[in-house]
Amino acid sequence: MSRVQVLSVASEIFPLVKTGGLADVAGALPAALAREGVAVRTLVPGYPAVLDAIEEAEAVHAFAALFGGPARLLAATAAGLAVFVLDAPHLYGRAGNPYLDPHGRDWSDNGIRFAALGLAGARLAQGLAPGYAPDVLHAHDWQAGLAPAYLHYSGGARPGTLATIHNIAFQGLFRADLFPLLGLPEAAFAMEGVEFFGRVGFLKAALHTADRITTVSPTYAEEILTPEFGMGLEGVLQARGGAVSGILNGIDEAVWNPDTDPHLPFRYDARRTISRRGNKRALQRRLALAEQQDALLVGVVSRLSWQKGLDLVLEAWPEIRMGNLQLAVVGAGDRGLERAFEATAAAEPKRIGVFIGYDEALAHLVQGGADALLVPSRFEPCGLTQLCAMRYGALPIVSRVGGLADTVVDANAMALAAGVATGFQFAPAERAPLERALRRALSVWEDGEAWRRMQRNAMAAPVGWERPAERYAALYREAAGLHRGSTLAGGPEEGVELE
Ligand code: ADP
Ligand code: GLC
Repeated sequence: MSRVQVLSVASEIFPLVKTGGLADVAGALPAALAREGVAVRTLVPGYPAVLDAIEEAEAVHAFAALFGGPARLLAATAAGLAVFVLDAPHLYGRAGNPYLDPHGRDWSDNGIRFAALGLAGARLAQGLAPGYAPDVLHAHDWQAGLAPAYLHYSGGARPGTLATIHNIAFQGLFRADLFPLLGLPEAAFAMEGVEFFGRVGFLKAALHTADRITTVSPTYAEEILTPEFGMGLEGVLQARGGAVSGILNGIDEAVWNPDTDPHLPFRYDARRTISRRGNKRALQRRLALAEQQDALLVGVVSRLSWQKGLDLVLEAWPEIRMGNLQLAVVGAGDRGLERAFEATAAAEPKRIGVFIGYDEALAHLVQGGADALLVPSRFEPCGLTQLCAMRYGALPIVSRVGGLADTVVDANAMALAAGVATGFQFAPAERAPLERALRRALSVWEDGEAWRRMQRNAMAAPVGWERPAERYAALYREAAGLHRGSTLAGGPEEGVELE
């Protein structure tokens, strides 16, 4: 099969810069796709952390002015990834969170910061870098949303486009006065374009203009067609009908491997889960919990936001604390939730341990030391932590939405009897069903053999990128074919010269 070249456009990429699962996906897909004959290069903004990580770079283009300042495009390798870096100090030369100012508010110029990313992506896709002619541009989330729009309105030669929705709650909505700065034709500011209820909508623009649309699980692909989950974009998606599909995320099995994990004091595999006890003790110590092996240690690794439903855990705590159960929470985000978790932990430090902040090593220790991992999300496009948990033998306890519904086999009577259960699901995402799921988990926990059986199932579940990568590769080939007459080249190795 011919080799396909993909320009991926993403605002974060692990291990260079990460605020959530998008970075994990953008970072892991290229290696998985290489095995499918797809060569991926990722365009990322030149945040300080990205520039610092560059190993080798070559300037492939200089913009005299890009949204208010000079900029360069570098073709580089960083942490083993093939990237284009948009080095634009006036837009990205700010340390810390890529989207938020030091007060935790969106940077006021996020509109032009990510319009620049989209524009650079579109221009690269049209041959800006000598010798580079991708077959497909793959835009991730709203931050890359204008890339397919710029291509759509540019006329002329262009590759196929794919837009992936990682979270429809974040839409990149900006005031209409941004529009004249974007350099799009007048006609684009319309319902059939980038306009969304009087504003400029970056994700809306992508959903309207991309050849194909994916989201990160089959269930979420259905949910976002409804008003309950579509966050106002359900109509736009319905209009795209067959162009929308769901491809489940995987996890990077090299990064998330309990047998080689450098963050675990005790490494193990499915045959040596007894070693998890040492990790459990280490986790209990780290969070100053009682060092009790018989307690069901339930972990949480999460952004603290309404989406994740962790307020339900606090609500349920007076009830769930009655069981032989401990909680280990690693998370950051909403200040009110952070304080509420700290206060609950302060009142009962032996039963609930909380670390507020972002800590990669501690996230691994939770996966390798907790007995279960709780993900009570109100909505969850895919979710990666439950996949890591399965690989690490921490049984996921999840709400039945989005990717959580698609990845966890609930321990109902039949699944237990058939020996296929991998975790616990509950619905709806409310306090009482959450409590019942925890009670079910406790009763299986007390039957040690049943728990170990589920743990073996979970650890054997296919959570890698192999199957999803096949699906992306097929979709890329389909999208690449759509504009074949118009593409610049079928890839450099086919010898087509760029203008
Ligand atoms: P989302 O992208 O919605 O935040 P995902 O489950 O897809 O949810 O991905 C979250 C990623 O971020 C996972 O890799 C998880 O381990 C990581 N993560 C979340 N919170 C923390 C934290 N406080 N410390 C370390 N890693 C975290
Ligand atoms: C988003 C979603 C999460 C998903 C991740 C990667 O952040 O909230 O469910 O796993 O993107 O696709």
